[in-house]
Amino acid sequence: MSPVVKTVNLVKIYQDGAVPVPAVRGVDLQVEPGEFVAIMGPSGSGKSTLVHMLGGLDARTSGEIWLDGKRVDTLSESAWALLRRKKIGFVFQFFNLVANMTVGDNVELPALLAGASPKVARERRESLLAALNLTDRADAAPAQLSGGEQQRVALARALANEPSLLLADEPTGNLDSRNTRDVLRLLSEVHKQGQTIVMVTHDARVASLADRLVSLFDGEIVDDGRIARRRTRTAGEVIDLR
Ligand SMILES: Nc1ncnc2c1ncn2[C@@H]1O[C@H](COP(=O)(O)OP(=O)(O)O)[C@@H](O)[C@H]1O
Ligand SMILES: [Mg+2]
Repeated sequence: MSPVVKTVNLVKIYQDGAVPVPAVRGVDLQVEPGEFVAIMGPSGSGKSTLVHMLGGLDARTSGEIWLDGKRVDTLSESAWALLRRKKIGFVFQFFNLVANMTVGDNVELPALLAGASPKVARERRESLLAALNLTDRADAAPAQLSGGEQQRVALARALANEPSLLLADEPTGNLDSRNTRDVLRLLSEVHKQGQTIVMVTHDARVASLADRLVSLFDGEIVDDGRIARRRTRTAGEVIDLR
């Protein structure tokens, strides 16, 4: 089976200011189907730039990106848009939900866009809302939700089209411990069901849910290893450590 993600000497240099800023400097990363990879590193080390490039939200300067065995760094904007719709789910820290749609419709939309039948999209919506304790908020507008609730809706939406790759950039960044626990519980659950996840986090306890930890420093991978644990830790236990 092809890796879900493969990058070859991936480089991003921002050129928008007076001085070029090298944000990602030659990253070789391979993620196998079903892996849960946490990316950690100091602020400014290139974590967001890397995951944005993996989702085609930021163009690379040089190097290669492969998703599911297909070279994608050369795709056009519209081809990327299609690929994202079919294969990639995103959770970012400041994720804008569609303001004039209900919470439920926000969650249902990606599956419909990806071509699921209305029946399947509706079933998916209901199971995700239930998993994130959002069923009673389904008819609310996003603006009526707390930050934590909005973040949970963003995760539900990212998972709605059953993406081959879930990309998350500090998905628990703004959350209190209860919301964090709900998000982590769902991440663990979908990971157990085989979901491939690449998650940026600054929190070692959140990272400890992953199988593998990749450390970035100054745009380079400085460490990449499996996370050792004696037994599987649950999301609830991770939070109890706080
Ligand atoms: N749009 C941009 N234009 C110019 N420089 C940027 C831009 N986005 C990020 N950078 C710079 O690239 C480097 C990596 O940033 P980023 O990927 O956001 O790091 P992290 O997510 O690890 O905090 C930083 O030096 C940052 O200032
Ligand atoms: Mg960042």
